[in-house]
Amino acid sequence: MKPTFSQPPHVDWLTGAFSRTPLLRKTTRLADLSGVFADVSGWRHADPQQVVYDVEMLDTPSGSGELFTGVTHLYPGKVGDEYFMTRGHFHALREQGEVYFGLRGSGLLLLQDEQGEMRLEPVFAGSVHIIPGFTAHRLINTGTEILSALAVWSSNAGHDYAALAGGFAWRVVEEDHQVQIREVQNG
Ligand code: F6R
Ligand code: ZN
Repeated sequence: MKPTFSQPPHVDWLTGAFSRTPLLRKTTRLADLSGVFADVSGWRHADPQQVVYDVEMLDTPSGSGELFTGVTHLYPGKVGDEYFMTRGHFHALREQGEVYFGLRGSGLLLLQDEQGEMRLEPVFAGSVHIIPGFTAHRLINTGTEILSALAVWSSNAGHDYAALAGGFAWRVVEEDHQVQIREVQNG
């Protein structure tokens, strides 16, 4: 049988922009991130319509064995002294890992396993991050430009946000013009 020829989607590695539509697009604003930032009063006084991140995904098949591909564009900013970040999640199917590729900007990938052990990896253009299964992940923009990262994950992994309702164990803040990590105080 003669092979068919089809044009693949194209991503601009410098900006993370996909050239092909349709794309699935989800915008997350400050108003959507209730309880995520430590400074509740700072969050209340900020513009609720402020966009924190956009996720653009290729509209590809879902189902067992399929892969999703998406780019997160995380804007620079802070609530109080805490940098803008994604909500962060475990996968609903805990064993499912994921790969992130840094495209532009600078930030951190925060990884926390089910025992609460945490590590941070710097994210920059060209960085490759192997997120193991059973590990929650969150992007943090510590820079002054948009942080964009491409992700590939199993389409049946799902997201479990509720398991992290108590938050990650550490926060990433700016203190004395430097990036610092601060342990979350309970209570
Ligand atoms: C998919 C994935 C990313 C995030 C995106 C937004 O498994 O890890 O595409 O979904 O960075 O972050 P959340 O989903 O935590 O709001
Ligand atoms: Zn994920």
